Amino acid sequence: MARKIAVVEGDGIGKEVIPVAVKALEKVRDDLDFFPVDVGCTRWNREGVAIDGNDIEALRSADAILFGAITTPPDPSYRSVVVRIRKELDLYANVRPVHANGVSVTVVRENTEGLYAGVEEITPERATTLRIITRKGSERVARFACGIVQPGETLTIGHKANVIKADTLFLNTCREVAESLGVQYQDRYIDALCLDVLMHPGRYPVIVTENMFGDIVSDVTAYLAGGLGMLPSANIGDRYALFEPVHGSAPDIAGKGIANPSAAILSAALLARHLGDDDSAVRLEKAVSSVIASGNVTPDLGGNATTESMGRAILAAL
Ligand code: NAI
Ligand code: MG
Repeated sequence: MARKIAVVEGDGIGKEVIPVAVKALEKVRDDLDFFPVDVGCTRWNREGVAIDGNDIEALRSADAILFGAITTPPDPSYRSVVVRIRKELDLYANVRPVHANGVSVTVVRENTEGLYAGVEEITPERATTLRIITRKGSERVARFACGIVQPGETLTIGHKANVIKADTLFLNTCREVAESLGVQYQDRYIDALCLDVLMHPGRYPVIVTENMFGDIVSDVTAYLAGGLGMLPSANIGDRYALFEPVHGSAPDIAGKGIANPSAAILSAALLARHLGDDDSAVRLEKAVSSVIASGNVTPDLGGNATTESMGRAILAAL
């Protein structure tokens, strides 16, 4: 039976890299039924809404979602589309794997709580954002992270429990889950971890951390992969799954045709793997790495290829 894939190109370079990723998926599978969902800043500029309930229903009807990036407009009344989708579809584990240059580091970021839960009170004189940590939220993301730790590997719990008391709940819950599942673990203060993961990436095969810390440390680990243009991600819940490059809409290069399509294609590989199709995932990953090795790459990786020419080379390698 055909699998339904919702495609959100979004804004900026999302509109440039996602079509390449769709073509790559079409090349490895002939049973995917793609349908577009138009949400984001372009829509907001046009209609005054960035996403509505019908869009959420459309996303829920898909077997998986391929997502580009959305520009945050400079308007205080705007609420983040990505954050809303993650919450409404309860995509609680944000997985950001780096497998490149001989290192393997996967960040598992809690995706529904922390400072991004949207519990805020803003007045002209005082602005407060609550950082929500729950046992349930910590437990399920810890369980997910433990599930991807390979035998012999150690899970790292990233936190700041020395200063932020709420992190004690996160830390202790992660420890309990790891112990109950027989997974070896260690913990690190998140700031020290941001440096040490670059100096000694081999020590950190899997990192689990709360929402904002995960957002930050995964941009740090992107360095190990060659930059933001290389890093894919999966947002996973018990029922739904969304796959997106870690990067944003990159307004500084949007429209120039030079965005690196790798992160989007590697996100498509994660989508294929989620559908149980490891063969297609491996084919997509190998095609990207072979083109990178050939040097036919976009300027962010030091080459002078365009999105179009690098994309064409990756499709040819498939
Ligand atoms: P960004 O990731 O869009 O760009 C950061 C830097 O990396 C820029 O210099 C950009 O040119 C470069 N870059 C990113 N992706 C690249 C690619 N594929 N190839 C080559 N270079 C690439 O982050 P920034 O500038 O902080 O945010 C831009 C907009 O995107 C903002 O409105 C932000 O809110 C939004 N954003 C959306 C996300 C999402 O929808 N999931 C995630 C991150 C940011
Ligand atoms: Mg980010």
